[in-house]
Amino acid sequence: MSIEIPDGLTELLQSFTVEVLRNQPGDLLDFALQYFIQLKENQTEAAFDNARHSANGRPGGGGNVSSGRAVNFAEEAMQIDSENEEDDDEEEFVAPVINRFLRRSSVCAEAFNPEEEEDKEPRITHPKTDEQRHRLQEACKDILLFKNLDPEQMSQVLDAMFEMPVEAGEHIIDQDDDGDNFYVIERGTFDILMKADRVERVVGSYDNQGSFGELALMYNTPRAATIIATSVGALWCMDRPTFRRIIVKNNHKKRKMYEAFIESLPLLTSLQVSERMCVVDVLSSKTYTDGEQIIAQGATANCFYIVESGQVRITMNTNKLKKEDGEGVEEDVEIAMCTRGQYFGELALVTNKPRAASAYAVGNVKCLVMDVQAFERLLGPCMDIMKRNIVNYDEQLAALFGSDTDIHNNDTAS
Ligand code: CMP
Ligand code: CMP
Repeated sequence: MSIEIPDGLTELLQSFTVEVLRNQPGDLLDFALQYFIQLKENQTEAAFDNARHSANGRPGGGGNVSSGRAVNFAEEAMQIDSENEEDDDEEEFVAPVINRFLRRSSVCAEAFNPEEEEDKEPRITHPKTDEQRHRLQEACKDILLFKNLDPEQMSQVLDAMFEMPVEAGEHIIDQDDDGDNFYVIERGTFDILMKADRVERVVGSYDNQGSFGELALMYNTPRAATIIATSVGALWCMDRPTFRRIIVKNNHKKRKMYEAFIESLPLLTSLQVSERMCVVDVLSSKTYTDGEQIIAQGATANCFYIVESGQVRITMNTNKLKKEDGEGVEEDVEIAMCTRGQYFGELALVTNKPRAASAYAVGNVKCLVMDVQAFERLLGPCMDIMKRNIVNYDEQLAALFGSDTDIHNNDTAS
């Protein structure tokens, strides 16, 4: 008796399996229930969006739930085979994204025009001791929103910031309030909570680094989440007028600079134009010199990268690869090369695991970098594309090292 496999079954189960592995749910049945309900809702929403886009005459509104070009990008980016290519006429399966990507919020308003905002507010300066300034500089050195500032702007930012000690349990921000300050963490841990269907739940956390509170100030919206200190800590705060005068004005410039590049990225095709501009707002450009390490295999992950110029070599240390005879081989092997427009560093953020491979600059390289919170908040709709690529990583490794390899199940941190 021949059994016919229904169209879409393989993708449905594959995506469900990836979500299970990514979320490690305690109650599989409950998770499955949530997953398939979400899937149905996504389909209804996508059909509605499609109808709207068709009515607007927007390209891509012709019936596919999402673009299949993504698969080509993934293949091109990581030089993998073309098994997953799909017929453009087929309705494509859109996997729902559970848990981490439910964090995606609707805070993505149209940009205001800072050129219209008059620069008449007096400059704010909070005097600091050398010791305080040194601590502040340390806390700010990896803040992506500050990366594109010129030295004069950065110095104004540092002048304007003031210190705030926090107690465990303190509410720093309450969802739906108006935005007063932007916060940079010097030390301490903080939970991010969001209300959905009147139930508030923890959707993420900050651990002794990072920043929050930019959205309400950037987009003139109510606070999108609640932030509660879970330990004693210290924050550096920047008032709203200074944030708007410096950071938002800078974002306006960034939008102009990166608009065309961002519009050309296949990864972001599932986003609306305004959502793509919000991606630009949180991206920051980092440069690397020849041979510089961008990602270290086994390290904890907190950023996602898009290559702006140059080439990035992805390598994997194979000491963990299982061989049939039980012997390990140990060497750094090139597994992919990323060029302009391609992305890397998504896997650890999606799987909540350490970095699976290392990344090195080949020649001078510029990357656009996004932090994990922005990745989760903004790139939920692009997950389908990323997941296809992730599923293909194992095949890519099997092609390189043989089908008995088990690299993604190993703890690459050790
Ligand atoms: P804001 O809306 O001003 O205040 C709450 C802050 O929580 C928000 O800015 C972000 O900085 C931060 N945050 C972290 N994760 C999320 C998320 N998933 N959605 C919205 N805000 C988030
Ligand atoms: P991440 O694990 O966060 O950091 C290393 C990155 O290398 C990984 O995300 C992927 O973006 C990229 N990469 C490319 N090919 C592979 C592969 N076969 N397996 C794992 N990661 C890969």
